[in-house]
Amino acid sequence: MTLNLARLHETFAAEISGVDLANPDEDALERIASAIDEYGVVVVRGQTLQNDEQVAFASRFGPLELSVTRYRSGTKQRIERKEIVDVSNLDENDRPRAMNDRLRMLLLGNRLWHTDSSFRATPGALSMLYAGVVPPEGGETEFADTRTAYETLPRALRNRVEDSVAEHALMYSREQLGFTDFSQEERDALPPVQHPVVRVSPAHGRRALYIGSHASHIVGLPVPEGRMMLRDLLDHATARETVYVHHWRVGDLVIWDNRCTMHRGKAYDESYPRDLRRVTTSDIQARSTLDMLRERRSVNM
Ligand code: OGA
Ligand code: MN
Repeated sequence: MTLNLARLHETFAAEISGVDLANPDEDALERIASAIDEYGVVVVRGQTLQNDEQVAFASRFGPLELSVTRYRSGTKQRIERKEIVDVSNLDENDRPRAMNDRLRMLLLGNRLWHTDSSFRATPGALSMLYAGVVPPEGGETEFADTRTAYETLPRALRNRVEDSVAEHALMYSREQLGFTDFSQEERDALPPVQHPVVRVSPAHGRRALYIGSHASHIVGLPVPEGRMMLRDLLDHATARETVYVHHWRVGDLVIWDNRCTMHRGKAYDESYPRDLRRVTTSDIQARSTLDMLRERRSVNM
């Protein structure tokens, strides 16, 4: 099988074909890792991945996070493996969740531009989202290139953000939609954290904006001032020229690097099932994807 790469957008995102992710060889893994470092978003179509296979593939690239949907004891889960985030609209009987279902409302926050787990002290590195069932229309996922966004900032704004630090909280992103149903246990488990607004990509040294819906304000600025700055940055980063729209097909695995992209889900008719499952690696050492793959290989052998 020959592995091919085709660009999907002028500035980022690529599709790789000719690989079976349930049985990838080491060469294919290296090429996928390099493509993630270079393009930020990598699409692989036509896969059949069981939960265990998706977890096994993702764990080659780093330790895996646990979903925040697991933080509340007693929540009924459709998927056993705790590394898998169930981003479907289905309940434990595989039926579409009710409009006011708590998990549905928690996941509605995915429709705001964000970067996965920026509300954690050790945030998300790579996310890998697999499509098992897709609705007939809508439900696309949009991606924004935050490296190009940084590079095209007006100079004055770029200078202002250079040393800025933002505070991020899951509670903040959810409160924006009026969702506040968190227990004290959940609030204690996820206190606000701080991250620089500009991140340097470990692979190529390019800078990227690190913002999104969890970012509530800028440390050291009056809250309205910092919040306005974050809005201006978000508008700039999500202009049409820096956005790739992914139209899902069954069997797609889309991998993105949360350190240099943002994303959001689009609405769809939720009487149809949409079964997407995500696994996310933890950015434990802020290493490039290729370095992380190589390091984990030497540890596992
Ligand atoms: C995610 C996410 C958006 C979507 O899984 O992290 O934001 O389109 N998903 O389901
Ligand atoms: Mn997400």
